[in-house]
Amino acid sequence: MCPSSPLTRRSDTKGPYWSEFVIIGKVVEMKKLNLAILCSGGGTNLQALIDAMEKGELSAEIKIVISNNSNAFALERARKHNISALHLSHKQFTTPEEFDQRLLEVLKQNQIDMIILAGYMKMLSPTIIRAYKYRILNIHPALLPHFGGPGMYGMHVHEAVIKSGVKITGVTVHIVDEVYDHGAIVMQKPVEVKDDDTPESLAERVLKVEHDTYKKAIQLFAEDRIKIRDSRAYIKP
Ligand code: GRF
Repeated sequence: MCPSSPLTRRSDTKGPYWSEFVIIGKVVEMKKLNLAILCSGGGTNLQALIDAMEKGELSAEIKIVISNNSNAFALERARKHNISALHLSHKQFTTPEEFDQRLLEVLKQNQIDMIILAGYMKMLSPTIIRAYKYRILNIHPALLPHFGGPGMYGMHVHEAVIKSGVKITGVTVHIVDEVYDHGAIVMQKPVEVKDDDTPESLAERVLKVEHDTYKKAIQLFAEDRIKIRDSRAYIKP
C-alpha cells in the first residue's frame, strides 16, 4: 500500500492487532481481529462472542478455541460453529516450557492478534504474557481489585461478595499481566446484590452482564480505541 494513501495503516497505531484498512476490489473493509479463545468449562462467554460475531456486532474472527480440559463443553460449542477446537494441556508435555512453545506455535499458525480468556483456569506463563503484551484479556465476575486473586473463581467469588455485605458487585474486563487478576481495567459494569441473593442467583445475573460486556470490550480493541499508559487503559472517544 502506498504510504501517502489515506488507506494506509494509521500512524498512531502500534502492534499487529490494530485495525487496518484493506482494499478488496473497490470496497474498503476493516480487517477483523483474529482471536484465540481459551476456556476450561462451559463456555457461555465463548457462545456470547460467537453470537455477537454472527450478528455482526463484533469485528473479529475466532480462529481457534483452546481448552486445557478435553471435556470442556466450550470445545463442543466451537465445533458446532466450525471453529477449530484444540485440547492443549500441560499434562501432554514434559515441561511447562514445551507447553508454552506449542501454544505459541498454534497462536502463530493462526495469526492470532489477541488471546481472550473466558473461564480459563490456568495461569498463563510470563513467556506467553510477554509475547502477547497488552493483547490478552480476561473477564472476572466481580469488580476488581476486590474479590479477585488466587482462589477467587467461580462460586467462591459470589459467596465472598454476599458474605461481605456489599450492595454492588459486577463484571471486570482487564488486560492480563503477570499478577493474578491484576492488569489494566478495560471495562467494568455493576450488578446489584439483592438481599435474598444466593451465590447461584447472583452468578446467573452477573453472567448475563458478562456476556454483554465482553463483546463490547473486545470491539473497542477491534476499533483501535484502547491505549495503555501507566497501568491504566484509556478509551479513545
Ligand atoms: C465466568 O464467570 C468468568 O467471569 C470467569 O469464568 C466464568 C466462565 O464461564 N472467568 P463460562 O465458561 O463462560 O460460562
